[in-house]
Amino acid sequence: MTIFEFDEIESSNDTARAIIEDGVSAPFWVLANSQTKGRGRLKREWRSQRGNLFCSGVIDFGSEVPNPLYSFVIGLAVYETIMHFAHNAEAILKWPNDILIEGAKISGILLETHTFQRRNFLIIGIGVNLVSAPKILDRETICLAQISETFPSPKDFINVMIGKIDFFLKEFQKHSFSKIRPMWLDRAMGLGEKIIIDQGVKKISGIFRTINPNGELELETENGCVFINSGDVIFQQLP
Ligand code: BTN
Repeated sequence: MTIFEFDEIESSNDTARAIIEDGVSAPFWVLANSQTKGRGRLKREWRSQRGNLFCSGVIDFGSEVPNPLYSFVIGLAVYETIMHFAHNAEAILKWPNDILIEGAKISGILLETHTFQRRNFLIIGIGVNLVSAPKILDRETICLAQISETFPSPKDFINVMIGKIDFFLKEFQKHSFSKIRPMWLDRAMGLGEKIIIDQGVKKISGIFRTINPNGELELETENGCVFINSGDVIFQQLP
């Protein structure tokens, strides 16, 4: 697998996009030591201090539109990579694809699509806190170095992660969502609990019942079951 390595770039997702437009064939990965404009989901900043992992993978889907279920496939692969390096950690997946350890965020995934010359590309941006946990205003963060005596370099981490992503992508291609879904649910936070979905413009509260075969979060509200495709989960006791 080709990995293009950079010292400092704005965002590995943007560099991946530029490399696609240079005509380089996918799959490939972009790995950066630091980013000056790292970004997260919902237009958040992703603080990108040296020593942590900042990378983006690219898959070429040709004329097909990438399936949104890839979000779960990648989340599971990153989860398993973290567990590979921190065997005893109690990690959990927080919908849609954050990974938390001891309730604090250790990694984030930003999936973007890009169309160039009538081909659709999935850009998989992954950030993992390896040596430091950037302070974020509204949430706790943690890094691998805090929970494990030995922790990998970004290069060691990406090499293992590429293997795991390849494995879960093949599982998804063979069995669709049927193998990935139960594995994801086994590692999921808050099933059966009261949660709030924050969609920016509105908040919806209810009980997190499951992720259904379409990848929607099923939320049992006072007005019946609603199917959620986007937002952030807030875990807290409701009155
Ligand atoms: C999130 O949890 O909000 C997603 C964070 C994704 C961060 C990664 S770091 C590598 C890639 N490049 C970016 O600018 N963002 C993603």
